[in-house]
Amino acid sequence: MTTTLITGASSGIGAVYARRFAARGHNLVLVARATDRLNVLADQLREQHGVAVEVLTADLTDAVQLGKVAERLRTQPTIDILVNNAGAGLNSSFEQASATDMNKLLQLNVQAPTMLASAAIGEMIKRGSGSIINIASVLALLPEYSPGIYAATKSYVLTFSQSLAAEVNAKGVYIQAVLPAATRTEIYERSGADISKVPDVMEVEDLVDAALVGFDRKELVTIPPVPEASAWEAFEQARGALAQGFSMLSPPRVIGPDCRRPGSTGSHKG
Ligand SMILES: NC(=O)c1ccc[n+]([C@@H]2O[C@H](COP(=O)([O-])OP(=O)(O)OC[C@H]3O[C@@H](n4cnc5c(N)ncnc54)[C@H](OP(=O)(O)O)[C@@H]3O)[C@@H](O)[C@H]2O)c1
Repeated sequence: MTTTLITGASSGIGAVYARRFAARGHNLVLVARATDRLNVLADQLREQHGVAVEVLTADLTDAVQLGKVAERLRTQPTIDILVNNAGAGLNSSFEQASATDMNKLLQLNVQAPTMLASAAIGEMIKRGSGSIINIASVLALLPEYSPGIYAATKSYVLTFSQSLAAEVNAKGVYIQAVLPAATRTEIYERSGADISKVPDVMEVEDLVDAALVGFDRKELVTIPPVPEASAWEAFEQARGALAQGFSMLSPPRVIGPDCRRPGSTGSHKG
């Protein structure tokens, strides 16, 4: 019997993952702050699918409560799939964001998925099986479209997933980074943004179903609104071509005004 632990399961993307994995017959551990919402979902899933569902209330920005979830990942029954989904936005510019808000965002979007993956990985490697799904964002690839540090937290999730996959795939552990674009959930309201101003919003069920197609295919990176895997592969090839230059032993001798760095919009040299 597979057991899947999902963070941020009380609403949005995490709640749909819970429904989909329960329909696949997985036992679940549901994590979030809103115990009432988790209990309602847990009762429905037990009744509809006959699966066992544990509810684990935790604020993942609190070190002690994060530790409780990490402890659950290290104990029995074994967790086969970890879905690092809980996350939030911060609808203010870097200039205006308070240190407290940014610190909370870093704890939730960066520290929590890292520490939970760390808690899960040892047992998965020992068994030679297991999966970790990390929910990033297309903003990891489009940081200019997002003020403040949100996109940077999601770039971290993508980069972390790629490094971790390179380290553990050969040991039987599968890592997937999912990059949703705008998806209809509470995240906009919660961060003070207005979803009605966002064009082309995907429905959350469609997002999770597309992400699960990528999961079943064992893709490292799944971008639900981009159905052709070849688009990502072309992006990766370009990265590989750029990386060939990294092995130069010395920088190019002449850096003149016509020599711009790739991606640079100004005449910045260096
Ligand atoms: N919706 C989009 O357009 C979009 C696009 C790209 C990426 N994403 C990513 O998708 C993931 C899920 O977000 P969503 O869109 O489904 O938003 P959502 O409906 O607001 O869900 C966020 C979930 O995270 C939980 N959460 C928030 N703060 C928490 C905390 N301090 N401790 C524990 N749990 C916490 C919430 O539950 P409680 O309030 O009960 O704790 C909720 O279950 C996030 O990582 C987000 O960055 C979303």
